[in-house]
Amino acid sequence: MTPERELALGLAEGRAATPKEIARVAEEVGDEAARWAFTQWALRERGCAKFGRARQMLFTREGLEMATHERVAAFHAELLTDEGCPIPLGSGLLDATCGIGADTVALARQGQTTACDLDPEHAALTLHNLAVHGLLADVQVTDCLTLDWSDKAVFVDPQRRTGRGRTLDPQSFSPPFDAVVAKCRTARRAVVKMSPMLPDEVLEQGDGLDFVSHGGECCEALMLFGFSHGRRAYQVETESWIDASPLASTLDDPLGYVFEADPAAIRTHALGEFGLAGLGDSNGYLTGFEPVGSPWLASFRVLWHGAFREDKIREATRELGLVVRAVKKRGVDIDPEKLRKKLAGQGKRPAVAILYKVGKSVRAVLAERIP
Ligand SMILES: C[S@@+](CC[C@H](N)C(=O)[O-])C[C@H]1O[C@@H](n2cnc3c(N)ncnc32)[C@H](O)[C@@H]1O
Repeated sequence: MTPERELALGLAEGRAATPKEIARVAEEVGDEAARWAFTQWALRERGCAKFGRARQMLFTREGLEMATHERVAAFHAELLTDEGCPIPLGSGLLDATCGIGADTVALARQGQTTACDLDPEHAALTLHNLAVHGLLADVQVTDCLTLDWSDKAVFVDPQRRTGRGRTLDPQSFSPPFDAVVAKCRTARRAVVKMSPMLPDEVLEQGDGLDFVSHGGECCEALMLFGFSHGRRAYQVETESWIDASPLASTLDDPLGYVFEADPAAIRTHALGEFGLAGLGDSNGYLTGFEPVGSPWLASFRVLWHGAFREDKIREATRELGLVVRAVKKRGVDIDPEKLRKKLAGQGKRPAVAILYKVGKSVRAVLAERIP
């Protein structure tokens, strides 16, 4: 942060990023500082989706995209410092790949923290973003693999993108996946943030595995080292946990209620947790006789079900006075929005069409959402 940039931030605040406004600020502080400040304000606006204090923080575009949401970062820090963990905390916390410091802020709230990044700009932004939250850490510009992890509780969020965009090849991560796993085994305890889209063979190389639900999505997988948990799902908004548990049975047709499971519960293989049957080959829709109140399930009362034929669905929609507001599908290759327009109906009672497969056939359910 140079004096020119600091001044430029103040001058650019609240102004539209038009060539005229940028030129006006540039007259006072120079071209570079003016452009930087307008970029910062655009990033800060986007950052409000992740951080309560985004309007004081500083970002790079890539750093903001990769940064953990602050509520999820708080969960990471609690997990890593959990007093119930069988391996006690050592001399402090290490954020091995700090980026713009979203996880560092959460860790520094819990205890003495070291943070490092290969990128000097990211390290500088971490220091600034810590200060915005009234916090301090030992921030270093270095390769995290050169540090001693042996007495530390370590959080690692490897960069999962290359010059060509995002990658799911663990050896293209930075630092590389195998090196991170080897280093985590030397740590007192460690948590590694990964994409939930990676296969189980990759993710199950730790001592435990958590899948995190936030904003209705399975936002990440966390590989745990030095913990004694199995495979679990955690929902950030409700602070609830469920354990992996296989489904006991599956039915081809729905009972009175259909449920759509949270994506993290599905990824955890925790669908047996609810005492319901699976619906067809859907891997995610469940069915039962009674409504079930669970933060992990969206619930629907079944109004009609049958083979997926558009004429039959339209007929049922007409007879029941329905208007189809959404089409949900699992394992069926259709465009839900196009189908919704075709099925919509003229009725007043809002309904959802749910499609799933049983072998090669496609089945449909018309249902109403219940709170
Ligand atoms: C996904 S970002 C981390 C985001 C961070 N958790 C946050 O929420 O702001 C990954 C970071 O790792 C850094 N990095 C990559 N390889 C590294 C290495 N070997 N040592 C330290 N940092 C590294 C990158 O520069 C990048 O800033």
